[in-house]
Amino acid sequence: MAETTSPAQNWRETAPGWLGEPWPANLTRADDGAMMLAGQRLDDLATEVGTPAYLVDENDFKGRARAYRDAFTQAFEAIGTKVALFYAGKANLNKTLARWAAQESFGIDTTSSGELTTALAAGVPGERIALHGNNKSREELEQAIAAGVGHIIVDSLPEIELVAEVAAAAGKSQPVLVRVTTGVHAGGHEYISTAHEDQKFGLSVNPAPGESESAAMTAVLKVLEQPSLELLGLHSHIGSQILDSAGFKAAAQALVKLAADIYRRRSVAIKELDLGGGFGIAYLPGQTSLDPRAAAYTIAGAVGDACHALGIPVPKIAFEPGRSLIGGAGITLYSVGTIKQVSVKAKDGTVFPRLYVSVDGGMSDNMRPMLYEAEYHAELANRVSDAPPVLARIVGKHCESGDILIRSIKLPGDIKRGDLIAVAATGAYGRSMASNYNMIPRPPVVAVNESGATVLVRRETVADILGLDQG
Ligand code: LLP
Repeated sequence: MAETTSPAQNWRETAPGWLGEPWPANLTRADDGAMMLAGQRLDDLATEVGTPAYLVDENDFKGRARAYRDAFTQAFEAIGTKVALFYAGKANLNKTLARWAAQESFGIDTTSSGELTTALAAGVPGERIALHGNNKSREELEQAIAAGVGHIIVDSLPEIELVAEVAAAAGKSQPVLVRVTTGVHAGGHEYISTAHEDQKFGLSVNPAPGESESAAMTAVLKVLEQPSLELLGLHSHIGSQILDSAGFKAAAQALVKLAADIYRRRSVAIKELDLGGGFGIAYLPGQTSLDPRAAAYTIAGAVGDACHALGIPVPKIAFEPGRSLIGGAGITLYSVGTIKQVSVKAKDGTVFPRLYVSVDGGMSDNMRPMLYEAEYHAELANRVSDAPPVLARIVGKHCESGDILIRSIKLPGDIKRGDLIAVAATGAYGRSMASNYNMIPRPPVVAVNESGATVLVRRETVADILGLDQG
């Protein structure tokens, strides 16, 4: 039955031989065992673009974008409203990704002048861009307002005054959303959960002890006082890598309640509720990404019911998925260098061997394992092997013993220098959080489709890094 087929599966049906999650939809193996992305052998790609390299499965990224667009559009149409989708550029942004997202009818969610400038350079119109941040500078606000950015998400009381001042100076009426914290806390690691109270983002919907008004309501009333601001809506982002919809549902109910309170107090109808991003993906075999269709219908149901119960019209609903579009569509390809075996003594006294497999990148191209203890899956990419698997640890080349990409994994015992290793699901927050630690140049971002490979962002060079040095 077409209606019940998950769009999460639809785009993958076109990929015969798919290895399954967490690999991209078009990741397969050739007859001789070499991995292929969209029919391109990874060993050939390694020769062509070098390693390490971030590879993006172009059609998978677009397929995920379409799956989200279709699921959310249909689910919110069913409750009589429209949906606006923004690709969260912080997950991974370059001009091509921005353009692809825009072609699939996404706007771009940005968080700095750098991301905003990239989205604008890609040709995304200002009104389809959102600007976030707990500490936007005056210059960033001037740039955004001059570019006609359609959604500025205000994050604090002082910022409301600053945005109003900059908009007034530009002679504009600036649409803003007030970022609220709903007390709903979802997602993996504490650092990536953003809607509980004790953190830097947003304004609480709950009055502080001893106060009669919530900070969120105070902010809304303040926005309404500013002639240069237009109150477009309310925003909530509850966290990241969320694998069920309950948190979104609770946040949606809290936003609808605040919208109803605003309507009752000021007869102002909230036009848009933005529920942020955070949809989780599979990182390891056996895990399953959140199904966009199930999430969309659950959240839409909650929004529809809450608006009905409180007697307000259903506003437009916005979302800002990042990881769920690009995360699983990307892999990192590394070359194996030094291999070293150590003996490890377990707590019970038994001694076992561990193979340290060093690759030509590490914490500078993927800091998530160190930052969040994030777990990844990897496989030998240039061949398959019948050698018995051994307990291995995949480490980088940085001068730091915590530079571990995968703490514990079984790899074929005959793994050797020059082999290629592919790490799955590195499309989100790999390149965008990469550093130059040890003055290691950041890897390129390379799009792959049936016609071949296209470098979207070239490999950094030591000359690029040294070019900043004025000494
Ligand atoms: N909207 C807002 C306001 C956000 O703060 C974020 C993520 C997103 C959307 C996109 O969330 P996504 O759909 O990608 O989960 N660097 C971390 C995650 C921090 C994300 C911060 N905000 C990581 O590597 O997991």
